Amino acid sequence: MQKPYYEKPKFKLYQANCLDLLAELPENSVDMVFADPPYNLSNGGITVHAGRMVSVNKGDWDKSKGFKDDYDFHYKWMEACCRVLKPHGTLWVSSIV
Ligand SMILES: C[S@@+](CC[C@H](N)C(=O)[O-])C[C@H]1O[C@@H](n2cnc3c(N)ncnc32)[C@H](O)[C@@H]1O
Repeated sequence: MQKPYYEKPKFKLYQANCLDLLAELPENSVDMVFADPPYNLSNGGITVHAGRMVSVNKGDWDKSKGFKDDYDFHYKWMEACCRVLKPHGTLWVSSIV
């Protein structure tokens, strides 16, 4: 198992690639997952923030790798979440509409 980035009794925080970390967890072992994944929007576009036009450039992690690769990544991490979640577990995903 990877070394926690931060640890307290009954609490561990990891900083890792989610696919690597989820693969280390036993199946049916997690009650709830909350995810705020990349939205793949940092591709030179603009948005409105606090009434002003600003560039959408959050970093390389948010750049689209094309529809198929983006889809494959999102499918993989959600599939990995489903594997570790208990049968009545909950998956919360932060997203945009
Ligand atoms: C929408 S942001 C989340 C921001 C966070 N909620 C906050 O308030 O700081 C998405 C985050 O996912 C991280 N990320 C991207 N790919 C990842 C991966 N494969 N595994 C784990 N984290 C990843 C990015 O570094 C980024 O911090």
